[in-house]
Amino acid sequence: MRVGVLGGGQLGRMLALAAYPLGMQVRVFDPAPDACAGQVAEHLCGSFDDEAALARFADGLDVVTTEWENVPADAARYLAAKLPFWPPVEALETAQDRLVEKTLFRDAGISTAPFVPVATKEALSLAIKQVGLPSVLKTRRLGYDGKGQFVLQTSEDEEPAWQALGSVPLILEGFVPFQRELSIIAARGTDGETRFYPLVENHHRDGILRLTLAPAPDLSSGLQQEAEAIATRVLDRLGYVGVLAIELFQQDGHLLANEMASRVHNSGHWTIEGAQTSQFENHMRAVAGLPLGPTDVNGNVAMVNLIGSTPPAADVLRIPYAHLHLYGKEPRTGRKVGHVTIVAPDAESRRDSVDQVLRLIGETL
Ligand SMILES: Nc1ncnc2c1ncn2[C@@H]1O[C@H](COP(=O)(O)OP(=O)(O)OP(=O)(O)O)[C@@H](O)[C@H]1O
Ligand SMILES: [Mg+2]
Repeated sequence: MRVGVLGGGQLGRMLALAAYPLGMQVRVFDPAPDACAGQVAEHLCGSFDDEAALARFADGLDVVTTEWENVPADAARYLAAKLPFWPPVEALETAQDRLVEKTLFRDAGISTAPFVPVATKEALSLAIKQVGLPSVLKTRRLGYDGKGQFVLQTSEDEEPAWQALGSVPLILEGFVPFQRELSIIAARGTDGETRFYPLVENHHRDGILRLTLAPAPDLSSGLQQEAEAIATRVLDRLGYVGVLAIELFQQDGHLLANEMASRVHNSGHWTIEGAQTSQFENHMRAVAGLPLGPTDVNGNVAMVNLIGSTPPAADVLRIPYAHLHLYGKEPRTGRKVGHVTIVAPDAESRRDSVDQVLRLIGETL
């Protein structure tokens, strides 16, 4: 089985690392010559608008998948016409546009923050009246790690928010006073077999994921069922195959969908050591038409992102229950360059180990 992956960042790298033990070969497509998946897989360096490069990429592959959210839809459609392509192009397009995404949630009966599209300055004034304050103005496309967002607290913020973001299509969302942020990861095979990982609790700082706890503390079966029902509706609507992640807000015991990722997700990196089958392996199994693996958790698990720089490996590996993942990327401010997973026997030792990791990297949550 030869699997092509569009995008060659750390997600592609971890997909490749999961695929080789299954006897698969992986070829990634990425415009960056130093794409870090290229250290562990065949790398075709090309531009997404270069059909000849895409054709060379497709040559000899059995199936194509993606690890990068913003793969241009034209490139995806070009490949989908030649080869099995999972998740479906429609899922990719939906996740690329916050308005389309939130509209899909709403049409599927999934709760979200109130939202209104904003294309003009006048529309922003009207949207603020509809959605209320505080609210969050976001670019419809190309946002990640909290980039392309402006929180409006008072009407004074309207002008600066417009100045900051007004050059592209926008969406205004009501600010959700959530109790916590959770996410669910689902995997669906080509035969419809579906597995869910337990809900995890996510902690962000400056719009970037810093810490994931798996399973989420104080997780009731009702909340897990609610999350699985949300994910199932999205999987069904999109005729989905592969791993899907949905970011959720918990508010008053219920869940609101924030956004989806039609790919493996940072809040699922803990599954490499922390679950019976990792999200990366299950994604590869799914797109290759293989049976999925069990998603049970191996203990009290946590994942801490390494952002901007990496501590000395020995200092991490000295911490009880710690596993280190470095992505082979150049350190740069705000860049995800690795993560640490803790797989502890109980909640207390998990907390101790997480505290040690956070202290080591100077993270304050
Ligand atoms: N409507 C909202 N109400 C309250 N907080 C919000 C809202 N939208 C976003 N946030 C906060 O900002 C964070 C980033 O927002 P969001 O997930 O929409 O954008 P993103 O940049 O695509 O993030 P990423 O791709 O890193 O997950 C959220 O995890 C949450 O903490
Ligand atoms: Mg998000």
